[in-house]
Amino acid sequence: MYIYKAGVVGAGLMGGGIAQVISYSGLPVVLKDVDEKYVQKGLAAARAVYEGRVKKGKMSAGELESKMALITGTTKWDDFSDVDVVIEAVPEEFELKKRVFAEMDAKCPEQTILCSNTSALSISALAAATKRPEKVIGMHFFFPAPVMKLVEVIPGLQTSTETTDTIVAFTESIRKLPVRVKECAGFLVNRLLMPYVNEAAFCLQEGAASAKEIDAAMVAFGMPMGPFTLTDNLGLDVCTHAGRVMWEAYGPRMAPADILVKLFEAKRLGTKTGGGFYTYNDQSDPLPAMIGEIQTNTGRRGTKFSVERLLYPMVNEAATCLEENVCTATEVDLAMMAGTGFPMPTGGLLQWADTQGLDAIVAALEVWSRDYGPRFWPAPLLRRMAGAGMTGTKAKRGFHAHE
Ligand SMILES: NC(=O)c1ccc[n+]([C@@H]2O[C@H](COP(=O)([O-])OP(=O)(O)OC[C@H]3O[C@@H](n4cnc5c(N)ncnc54)[C@H](O)[C@@H]3O)[C@@H](O)[C@H]2O)c1
Repeated sequence: MYIYKAGVVGAGLMGGGIAQVISYSGLPVVLKDVDEKYVQKGLAAARAVYEGRVKKGKMSAGELESKMALITGTTKWDDFSDVDVVIEAVPEEFELKKRVFAEMDAKCPEQTILCSNTSALSISALAAATKRPEKVIGMHFFFPAPVMKLVEVIPGLQTSTETTDTIVAFTESIRKLPVRVKECAGFLVNRLLMPYVNEAAFCLQEGAASAKEIDAAMVAFGMPMGPFTLTDNLGLDVCTHAGRVMWEAYGPRMAPADILVKLFEAKRLGTKTGGGFYTYNDQSDPLPAMIGEIQTNTGRRGTKFSVERLLYPMVNEAATCLEENVCTATEVDLAMMAGTGFPMPTGGLLQWADTQGLDAIVAALEVWSRDYGPRFWPAPLLRRMAGAGMTGTKAKRGFHAHE
């Protein structure tokens, strides 16, 4: 199926960016919100991206206007009568999204594919709100959409192969990198990021290192920003919501570190509230007192920080994803580089794991599992691979084959 026109519902942080991405590829796109002022905000966000390109000399002012002319802002469904695909990007509330899906189903032509940009909600459950579950699919962009290359394409239980193939091709046509991900809580990238961010938080609350030291170490490793800067930018409310969905799905290994819960409860949600792990205004920093209280309550302090302590849990979760056929090892690597900025020279998370030695990773996880908690329990696949001598680069076979 060829896509001639697209729609985006919700002109917020993600919707405005997604509309810009689609228009940039030369496709007309309708951008809908509930109120004209939000529509204008979305259009202004798209325009700002183009203005940045004009400033850098990558595009002329005339080209900017012709791209912007491809985006139609609206508060009505009228312009959706001939869209081939719609991407829903309204706030992350299940009941709201269900209502929006029912509405899209009623207002769009019957062949239109309905996508959700949800970060954590079930695509299959959203599909159930429509009469066309075979045409409902997840299309998960990353923030900021105009910059981040990755789009996770997530078929639900009833999504047809034709729908999935169409959306993979559509994603490529808007110059993004599609990775097919089997539906699971957190999908792929957030599912792998959760243990990483959570472990950083455990290190912090146990006094293993400061937020600044941990962030600096991960940047030195090659990540574009450290876990605390990332969390503060994403918002602790967004992370807590996604984390809760994963905790419910995967159980205790995803239970949030106490400091994450405490900051969320204190409404320290990150940059948008003036403070999260870091303090961005001139108010006093409550973090040391929170950490002190957690150490008193848990009796846990003085553990050791290392970049491996944050990265091996991601490798471990990725191994579980492979066992569940969520995607392939190559897709894990591509998704981590394109979706999180995992350093390119490593070749991606699992290529990097191969250079570490899977036997060494299992050994480290076993020690931490004993000393720090069962969340480090090695994934069965990782143990089997290590036991079979598939230890990575040195054995010429691990997650990947090595010449
Ligand atoms: N912000 C991120 O980093 C990020 C990253 C990936 C995915 N997501 C997901 O994208 C979705 C949108 O997130 P966001 O950060 O852009 O939210 P946002 O709050 O910035 O924007 C949501 C927009 O939807 C509008 N809206 C609300 N109800 C609507 C309705 N019934 N019809 C049309 N528009 C409606 C709101 O007015 C608002 O403009 C969420 O599901 C979120 O989980 C967010």
